[in-house]
This record gives sequence, structure tokens and C-alpha cells, in this order.
Amino acid sequence: MARRPGAFGWLLGGAAVVAVVIGLVVDRGAKPTALADAGALVRWGLPVTTVVAELAAAATIGLLGLAVFVVPEGGSTSRRIRLARSASVAALVWVVAGVVQLLLAFSDVSGTPVLAAGYFGQLMTFVWSIELTRVLFVSVGWAMLAGLGASAARGRPAMTWSLLSAFAGIGILALNGHAAGTATHEDAVDTMGVHLVAMACWVGGLLALALSRRALGHDFGVAVRRYSVVALWSFVAMGVSGVIQAAIRLGSWSGLVTAYGALVIVKAVVLAVLGWFGWQHRRNLATRLTKDPGDGRGFARLAVGELAVMGVGVGIAVALSRGIPPAADAGGGGRIQALTGYPDPGPLTFARWLTAWRFDALFLGVAIVAVGLYLAGVHRLHRRGDAWPVGRAVSWVGGWAVWVYATCGAPGIWGRVLFSTHMVMHMAIAMIVPLFLVPAAPVTLVLRALPPRRDGTWGPRELLFHAVHSRAVHILGNPVIAALFFFVSLAVFYYSPLFGLALTTHTGHLLMLAHFLLTGYLFTWVLIGIDPGPPKWSPLFLLVILFATISFHAFFGVIITSDPKLLAPDFFGALHLPWMTDVHGDQVNAGEIAWGVGEVPTLALALMVARSWVRRDRAEQVRLDRQADRDHDADLTAYNEMLAGLRAQDDRLGR
Ligand code: HEM
Repeated sequence: MARRPGAFGWLLGGAAVVAVVIGLVVDRGAKPTALADAGALVRWGLPVTTVVAELAAAATIGLLGLAVFVVPEGGSTSRRIRLARSASVAALVWVVAGVVQLLLAFSDVSGTPVLAAGYFGQLMTFVWSIELTRVLFVSVGWAMLAGLGASAARGRPAMTWSLLSAFAGIGILALNGHAAGTATHEDAVDTMGVHLVAMACWVGGLLALALSRRALGHDFGVAVRRYSVVALWSFVAMGVSGVIQAAIRLGSWSGLVTAYGALVIVKAVVLAVLGWFGWQHRRNLATRLTKDPGDGRGFARLAVGELAVMGVGVGIAVALSRGIPPAADAGGGGRIQALTGYPDPGPLTFARWLTAWRFDALFLGVAIVAVGLYLAGVHRLHRRGDAWPVGRAVSWVGGWAVWVYATCGAPGIWGRVLFSTHMVMHMAIAMIVPLFLVPAAPVTLVLRALPPRRDGTWGPRELLFHAVHSRAVHILGNPVIAALFFFVSLAVFYYSPLFGLALTTHTGHLLMLAHFLLTGYLFTWVLIGIDPGPPKWSPLFLLVILFATISFHAFFGVIITSDPKLLAPDFFGALHLPWMTDVHGDQVNAGEIAWGVGEVPTLALALMVARSWVRRDRAEQVRLDRQADRDHDADLTAYNEMLAGLRAQDDRLGR
């Protein structure tokens, strides 16, 4: 790659030019959303730099992704390092375009032309307080980190961290754009995040493959096959997230008969055309590459066409993001909407515990993908003639059903306005969901269902294998550390500003749910997990840990119940729900729930630990019996001989 910077420039430049021309031409149609017109430089420069930044981000992610997960390394080759170095060049383009984009964006929202007097003074003062520029600033920061990492990385762990930084850099852009303010703000942000990451994997992966075609030689075929799996996932993710976003911004079918709606339709056509390209890849190219893995001629032709169409997609998207969507936020929605992002759900009646639903695209999507992948894995084992206990599959599906109820049902809806219901959601996600997911042994299923890679590359199976045997998991998998992590983080979360942040910010809410689920899963796994991982501790010791946890939970519940001060007072004190006046009383309920609801799953865990203890003992007994059968009870014989020896000694000593 280093030898062929030309190719890099041509391909990225080609896609960018197509995207920019499309973006600018289409953008002319859409009226800018700025306070005042900050001049031609901003009007033309902003969409250009946005497109260049997004495509350079995609290239950075594609090149690093290829290096870490796709490209086999021969004896003397250094393909991964070369890919990483090319990624650092792409990241540099991203950083430069990102900084210019930030400057133009500030000019756009402030109405102050870039070169105007006082512009930089204003920028320094407001860059962090305006969400748009703050997000762009953080995105450029991640891009810089990814670029520095890629320029110095020699091994895959370092390249993986650079890749994660790049994902964070493009993912955070979801917080910008039209997503903010709408009643379905969170769905808009989450699906935009999925949309951007999927775009980066798809466009960036194709770009990186096209660049490394010659260098890969005979490994090109396997690289294309691996990329096409990513391409298929990205295609589906972009379609689903794009349609959800379009639905949110169009508001109704009539929104399609607007300038914005027309662009959305064109994007759907673009996606269909890209789907056709993908099908061509799979149908023609795969067979050809199986015959001659080095024959990438057909690929290059398809790739250039496909990249041009992707450029069109990105260009239109950027124009779209500068237009005014038909269902643009009309503002208002009152105090509760401003604080929680959602309208007042009204009083929580008994019936509503069962009937109220507000499906969240991300939470529901995660559950559907997790269940789909698990059942696909079980199906693959069955097709191979391998058995897999049905109970595990039922447990997995059950766990995700509880997750969907806790996040999209009454606990998820009223958990935004009531501390007590929030605690029900917390307990369900941290303690009940893992109780179903852990016994389903997902790691074992993945390791059995996915074929191992034989060329030293990291596929999902290898990545998982490395993860469960990593030092970090060994440390976290220590029952004492897992228990401390589980309940100390509980106390830290509720008795720190983190609780308020989780209630008032989308990112905070997502991180809170991820933390609840992961710490709960880790704790349950070290107690009753059957998946491979750190060595298991004696069940007796695990029970001691568990009872310590039970008492801590009770203690924690009592502290909240008896705390005269309101937790997260700026939030719960400012809600003023018309149907709920005793806010502190609700906090007392939350403490009782932490105590009461928390104990039930912990008790179930204790029973499961005891049961695994009995099972282990039985298995040990069976093993000992088999060994005794095999060696004619050598142990017992040795023991008896030892006893006889002792007796003889006693006799000799006259004792
Ligand atoms: C069914 C097909 C698709 C639909 C319905 C769709 C819809 C959308 C919508 C509604 C947005 C938000 C725009 C805004 O902020 O108002 C968006 C953003 C975006 N889309 Fe798509 N999209 C689709 C396919 C694609 C494809 C094929 C690509 C590129 C290969 C793409 C690239 C992007 C990008 C880069 C953004 C972010 C633009 C920005 O804010 O800077 N989309 N899409």
C-alpha cells in the first residue's frame, strides 16, 4: 500500500468528488438551517468537508478492519502494518477535514464568517457549549487517536484499539444532525449511530480491499469472502436504520412528497443499486475467486462502480442532513419532555405494567440480533448432527424477553420518571436477565458453531476465544473482584452525579444499561457460568461471596430507604409529575425494591450454585468410580496400605 499512494488518492478522491458534486448540487435545493447565512465559504465548504471527513473516516475504519480481522499475514509479508499506515494517512485526512468542518459549522450556527473579526474568540468561548461543535471536536479527537495509533501500531491489539477509537469518532456524530430535540430523539440518535458505523464498514471495507488487491495476491479471494459477510450485515443495518430514521424525520407518508422525502427515496434507490452490486459480487466474483483466488479483475471493475454509487449515497445524505425534515422538531413538549426526552407517561396503573410498551429501536434490535444469532448457531450445530440442550436456547430467548420488557415495557417507560420503577428496571437487567443468559452458554455455542480460522487471522470465534482467555477477563472473573465490581459500582452509581447523568442524557442512559447488564452478567457467570473462562472457585467459597452480596444488597436498600435526602434531586425534584407528589416516598419504595426484588434472583443464584456444587460432586464421584474401576481401586488400596503401615509402626513402637 505504501508503494501505491496513487491508488489510494484516486479511489478516495473519486468517491469523494462524486459525493461532493452530488451533495452540493442537491444541497442547493435544501434551505440551510443556520441562524444567518455565514457566506458562500460555509454554504459550499460545509457539505464538502462533511463528505470528505465521513469518507476518510470510512477509509480509516476499512483499512484497520482489514488489517485486524481479514488479511492473512505470510512469513515475510507486513500487510497489516502497511494497512495500518495507510489508515493513519486516511485518519490524517479525516482530522484535517474534521477541523475545517468544525470551523465552518461554528460559523454556520453563529452566523459569523470564519475570517470575521472576533471569530476565533467566539469559537474558543462557545465551541464546547454548542452540542454540534462539541460533538465534532470530540470526533476529531478520536480520529487523531486512531491516526496516532495506526501510525505506530505493530500488532493487532494496538490496531484494534485504533479501530475502536475510529468507531467512537464516527459513532459520536450520531448525536448531531436532526436527531436532537425530537420526541423519538433516542431512536434517531441510535439508528444514526448504526447507520454511520455500517456505512463506514461497508464503504471503508470496499475501499481497503480495492487498495490491497495486488498486495493480497492469492489471499484476495478469502479476503473478499470475509468482506462480503460484513457487506451483507452493513447492507441490512443501513436499510433498517435508514428506514427508521426516515420514518422519524418524515413523520408520515405525506413527508415523502417533499424535497427531503425525495432525497430519502433516492437514497433507497441507491441502497437497492448497492444491493445489486453486492449480489453480483456474491454470484460472479465468489465463484471466479474460488477458481483463481488472485484473479481480482472483475472485482476492480465492480468496486469502482460501487464506490461511485456509495459516494452518491453519502453526498445525498450530507445534503439531507442540511435540509429541513418535514417532521422537524416543533419544540415545546413541556418540562417533562425537556428533562426525559419523552412526554409524561401518566400514572402507572396495574394494567399498564402489562399493556404499556414503547419499543426502542436499539434495545429491541439488540435482542432480535442476539436471539437470531444464537438460534442460527444452534441450527448450524443441529445441521451438523451435533446436539445442543433445548433448555439453553429457551433460557437465552427468555433472558432477552426480560430485557425487552425491562427496556421497552413499563419499567423502561416509567423508569425515566420514577425512581422506584427505575430500580425495577435496574434489578431486572442486572440480576434477572443474566440469570437466563449465563446458563445458555453463548460462548460455548459460538466456539462450537463457528469454524476456526486456519490462517492466523482473527474472526469472531478467535476474537471471542482471545477475549475469554485474556488477562483482563481473568482478573475480572475473580469472584471477589466480580462481586466488588457488582455492588461497589451500584453504590458509586447512585451516590454520585452519574445517576443524574444517566437520567438526563442519552449517552448516560445507554452506558448505564450496558454497565448494569455487563456487571450483572460477569457476576452471574463467575458463580454459575458453564462457558470457558477463568478457573472456577470452590462452590462453598462462591456461596460465601453470594451471601455477602445478599447482605450488601439488603444494606444498600436500607440506606436508600432511610436516606432523608433525595437522590438526583436536580432531576426528580424538577419533574413535578402532576400525578405523583411524594417524590421522597417513591425513593423509599426504590430502596425497598432494591432490597426485596434484589434478593429473589440472588436466592435463585444461591440455589444454582448449590446445584452446580452437587453436580460437580456427582461428576467427581463418577470420575473417581471410573478410575477405581480402571485401576482396581488403586487409591483405596494405597490408603489401606498406608493405614496398615501406620498400624505396623504403632505395633513396632508398642503403642
Ligand atoms: C434505504 C436507504 C436509506 C435511507 C432511507 C437513509 C436515510 C437516511 C436519513 C433519514 C439520514 C439522516 C439525515 C438527516 O440528518 O436528516 C441518513 C443519514 C446518512 N446516510 Fe442514509 N439512508 C439510506 C441509505 C444510505 C446509503 C446507501 C448510504 C451510503 C452508502 C447512506 C449514508 C448516510 C450518511 C453518511 C448519513 C449521515 C449524513 C450526515 O449527517 O452527515 N445512507 N440516511
